[in-house]
Amino acid sequence: MKMVKNIGLICLILGLYLITSRPAMSQSVVDNKICVDCHSQMNPKIISTWQESRMALSGVTCIDCHGSDHQSADDAFRISMIVGGICQKCHGDEVVQFQDGKHARAWTSVYTLPDVEALPTELVEGEQGCGGCHAIGRWDGQCDSCHTRHTFSKEEARQPTACLPCHGGVNHPQWEIWQTSKHGVVVTASERKRGPTCQTCHMPKGNHGVTTAWSLLALRASGKDLEWAEFRRTILRWLGFIDAAGNPTEGLDRLKARGIVLLSFDEWQEQRNRMVGVCNTCHSRLFVLEKMEEVDSIIKKADHLMADAIGLVQSLYDEGFLSRPKEKPPCCPDLLGFHKAPNPLEEKLMTMFLKYRLIMLHGAVHNNPDYVTNYGWIRLKEGYEQIKRMVRSHKSDEVSRGQRDPVMRRRPPLAADQLR
Ligand code: HEC
Ligand code: HEC
Ligand code: HEC
Ligand code: HEC
Ligand code: HEC
Ligand code: HEC
Ligand code: HEC
Ligand code: HEC
Repeated sequence: MKMVKNIGLICLILGLYLITSRPAMSQSVVDNKICVDCHSQMNPKIISTWQESRMALSGVTCIDCHGSDHQSADDAFRISMIVGGICQKCHGDEVVQFQDGKHARAWTSVYTLPDVEALPTELVEGEQGCGGCHAIGRWDGQCDSCHTRHTFSKEEARQPTACLPCHGGVNHPQWEIWQTSKHGVVVTASERKRGPTCQTCHMPKGNHGVTTAWSLLALRASGKDLEWAEFRRTILRWLGFIDAAGNPTEGLDRLKARGIVLLSFDEWQEQRNRMVGVCNTCHSRLFVLEKMEEVDSIIKKADHLMADAIGLVQSLYDEGFLSRPKEKPPCCPDLLGFHKAPNPLEEKLMTMFLKYRLIMLHGAVHNNPDYVTNYGWIRLKEGYEQIKRMVRSHKSDEVSRGQRDPVMRRRPPLAADQLR
């Protein structure tokens, strides 16, 4: 009898201790049992993965994350599902870092592209397309993009495959590029820690605020190389980011405000230095600086080719061989225009810019010679040569048919087969 009393007392003290020592944890241990009991009938896997998680072992319960507004089968709509907000209660540091990086902006950046509203809503809002990847920045940040529920494991997030669902595939195949680069091979084929993974370079010391100097489009507002600045101006004009006189447009301001594509030179340099510091832990500084210089020089060469190709197409408009549809201004076609180019020439320019130039950049910064050459430079050059031929044959056709006059210029845009 005395024994039972003592156990009762110990339980009481332990219970009080647990409640008072963990103010951030659940209000009541008993409540959570309801959740576990009912949900282990419906979704036993959720319960078992949670039970094995580091957090469950530290006493974090369903209620800590989902609250206790919903407690029965017919009030599930009351549940709290805002991920970043949930985690912030206990992981303030990671949330602050995350908010400082590009992942936090992923949701708003989708809406900076023209014509996003015209896409099926399932793709964006429904997260079946663009939204599926860009949701990493939705609702205060989706921490479970890398720490999948209900394991929420650090080890899982450290695997390069944690980045694969979004950084692989057609448009930005960083995963494939890394995996088949020397770095990827050294990681997978040899003793694991010798080579760098995505996280080594992009989340040094576990910092959750990912950013890079060049970012996706590798366009920067300023720089010392005047020749390069001229190429870039041509591209920026065709992106609609500056007008014919070189003044920034509303589109540019929008992107700048959201920190999406353009950084000042100082910000760019800061990001670059940070990355060089990471490489420097395994390589000599000189080796790294030389590699980085090569990367920049490749981007400049790609910009040169792009600017020349744009110049050729521009000459068709300037000399009256080609007209643009009314709704598109005569300068500034948008190279980001979602395959809505008014003619095959501009379609080709768009592919050169969005596909070949970008793949070449991704390949170069990740040291993958195959991507730089075979998916990048060769295709870019091929695109340029095609544009040259298309422009030449178009000019000679028009001249021989005597159609180069203002009246004829108003006819509908060229049929695809005339130019291909
Ligand atoms: C009596 C059974 C029952 C209890 C008790 C219960 N739930 Fe549920 N819960 C449900 C049902 C039914 C749904 C609807 C989801 C479904 O159809 O599978 C649901 C859905 C959920 C969802 C998903 C909501 C969504 O929008 O997808 C979460 C999260 C959840 N419950 C957490 C909890 C938590 C936390 C507790 C304890 C406070 C709890 N549940 C207690 C039955 C229960
Ligand atoms: C560390 C926080 C955390 C804990 C602990 C937690 N969850 Fe969740 N849960 C989440 C997050 C985050 C989501 C995803 C919400 C979203 O995407 O909107 C989620 C989603 C869910 C869903 C709906 C999605 C699905 O995959 O079916 C259910 C059901 C659910 N949780 C039940 C539970 C139950 C039951 C427990 C306790 C055994 C629990 N959760 C513990 C964070 C947590
Ligand atoms: C009520 C407080 C609380 C909430 C809410 C919470 N966590 Fe935790 N989390 C903890 C504790 C405690 C640990 C264990 C820390 C330790 O062992 O050092 C932990 C550990 C972790 C770890 C490390 C796991 C490992 O494998 O070592 C990750 C990742 C993590 N949490 C992510 C999240 C995410 C994502 C959310 C939101 C969906 C979240 N946490 C919500 C308290 C919380
Ligand atoms: C759920 C999808 C998703 C996952 C998983 C994901 N990312 Fe991202 N990441 C994105 C999106 C979307 C962007 C573009 C953000 C924006 O709009 O600026 C991005 C941007 C980045 C950038 C910044 C590029 C720049 O513009 O400077 C880096 C670096 C990055 N991610 C690294 C990683 C790493 C490393 C991992 C894995 C540990 C990872 N990401 C996992 C979707 C994801
Ligand atoms: C497979 C995942 C995925 C899908 C689907 C996807 N994106 Fe992205 N998006 C990314 C990643 C990852 C990045 C960052 C890539 C990089 O920096 O190289 C990105 C970058 C961007 C950026 C540039 C952001 C920046 O900071 O530079 C915009 C804008 C964008 N995406 C819009 C869209 C739109 C609009 C769609 C749908 C038509 C879409 N994305 C579909 C993963 C995706
Ligand atoms: C792009 C992938 C990615 C996203 C998104 C992400 N994490 Fe992490 N997280 C990681 C990686 C990788 C680590 C391991 C870092 C390391 O090596 O120490 C980690 C580690 C953690 C840890 C353990 C820290 C420690 O020192 O033990 C916590 C807690 C955590 N993350 C919380 C969060 C929260 C909260 C969010 C949402 C704001 C989040 N994570 C979003 C990749 C991610
Ligand atoms: C050896 C270091 C290293 C590794 C490993 C690495 N990256 Fe990068 N990453 C870079 C560098 C360097 C840049 C360009 C930085 C700059 O702009 O100066 C970059 C740029 C990026 C960008 C911006 C767009 C681009 O491609 O130019 C994204 C997104 C990205 N990396 C994602 C990843 C992902 C995902 C992985 C793993 C599959 C990965 N990186 C592996 C070093 C690395
Ligand atoms: C965690 C260590 C580590 C980091 C960080 C790292 N590397 Fe490496 N790197 C290696 C290893 C190991 C090899 C393979 C060694 C070899 O080629 O003999 C390698 C190979 C290379 C190669 C191919 C060299 C060759 O001769 O084939 C280049 C280029 C390179 N790294 C550049 C970089 C750059 C640039 C960065 C930073 C953005 C970087 N590395 C970051 C470990 C690292």
